[in-house]
Amino acid sequence: MKKHLLFFPVALLLASFTTVGGSDPRLPSDIKALLDKNGCGACHNLDRKLVGPSWTDISKRKYSAKRITQLVAKPEPANWPGYVPMVAQPSVPKDEMTKIANWLSKLQ
Ligand code: HEC
Repeated sequence: MKKHLLFFPVALLLASFTTVGGSDPRLPSDIKALLDKNGCGACHNLDRKLVGPSWTDISKRKYSAKRITQLVAKPEPANWPGYVPMVAQPSVPKDEMTKIANWLSKLQ
């Protein structure tokens, strides 16, 4: 009986940790999967600068989804002084790039 009483709070604690650490409402899991699949996650993080600027920093530029798609296929490194130039990513499947671009253009 005692064991059962202990199990519940621990399970609740673990559940809340996975929510906080595992997914941010600003980065839905289907988008995160696309970013990881297409290699974007290696250089970009939601809030932290990695090799490339964070998604939230990019979103401050207020690009349209169309402009984002153009910049990913043909980066313009002059837009980000102090960063290494991004390697062009022309082979992201069109429907996936559309989803990523729509998400990024609305991110705050
Ligand atoms: C090898 C590292 C790397 C990968 C992989 C990468 N990026 Fe980047 N990205 C960068 C860097 C560095 C910059 C800033 C310099 C630049 O724009 O050239 C950048 C800039 C950007 C910008 C801003 C462009 C601008 O001109 O303001 C967008 C949007 C972007 N990346 C999206 C993506 C997406 C989407 C993917 C995946 C398909 C991706 N990146 C993959 C490194 C990377």
